[in-house]
Amino acid sequence: MVEYICDFMSNIHRRRVTPDVGPGYLRPLLPSEAPNEGEPWEDIMSDVENKIMPGITHWQHPRFHAYFPAGNSFPSILGDMLSDGIGCIGFSWAASPACTELETIVCDWFGKAMALPKEFLYFSPGSKGGGVIQGSASESVLVCMLAARAQAITRLKESPVYAHLDETTLLGKLMAYCSRESHSCAEKDAMICFVKLRILEPDEKSVLRGETLQQAMESDVAEGLVPFFVSTTLGTTACCSFDNLQEIGPVCKKYPEEKVAEVVPVPKSYLGHILPDTYKMQTLLTSTSTI
Ligand SMILES: Cc1ncc(COP(=O)(O)O)c(C=O)c1O
Repeated sequence: MVEYICDFMSNIHRRRVTPDVGPGYLRPLLPSEAPNEGEPWEDIMSDVENKIMPGITHWQHPRFHAYFPAGNSFPSILGDMLSDGIGCIGFSWAASPACTELETIVCDWFGKAMALPKEFLYFSPGSKGGGVIQGSASESVLVCMLAARAQAITRLKESPVYAHLDETTLLGKLMAYCSRESHSCAEKDAMICFVKLRILEPDEKSVLRGETLQQAMESDVAEGLVPFFVSTTLGTTACCSFDNLQEIGPVCKKYPEEKVAEVVPVPKSYLGHILPDTYKMQTLLTSTSTI
């Protein structure tokens, strides 16, 4: 297998970039039931080469001019092999101390490499959080939104204005925001979270601006709604625009009573997935003027 991978990576440029197959091409080529008997290794690898590879889009191909040229360096592959060999389920610190501790340490390396403010790091004085590696960008936005939703409901229940309302009614008041340039996962995640989402128009350079957000929040608050979450993107999927955090942060600060939680999903396309701790993010936005 290692030989096959080495050969594949060394000669990937000889393959066509996108497959020449139609939908449903694979089903007639494979048995409809899982085999009861094992097969010779050569037959399995022959199936990989002749049945699977023709349907592979070669994302790591030198002529694939799209996203994600990452995750398959030799060190990365060796790391995956070691991790698979250890086969450890790192649910929690007790389930595997090294897994949990390594994640926190490496998340800090990553945060520092991106020059994130110290509030986002585990190992900074008084830190309450840090990052958690998620499986995908959509998942990261979803987890952030769920956390922000839970936090918003809890805080509203503590407020004399809202305390008499039940949680379902409060849920109906929550408003999330994103840009028209945001990835569709923001919309999907808002549907899963059962919250309203306002999709804002970016400027002519596809950048979400603070003024646009402010106007939207003002009109929503006037309608009795509660802004609780803003999804911004650094490197949008379509054109790699950067939402203007310098303007958006201070706008969020104007709604401390609404306890706006600001979430910056890091675009997978370039950097990987990190879930910033929403509480820290909120603290950052409500206690500092710049990001
Ligand atoms: C900016 C951004 N957000 C979210 C996503 C969704 O990523 P995933 O499919 O891994 O959830 C993408 C994927 O291209 C993206 O570019």
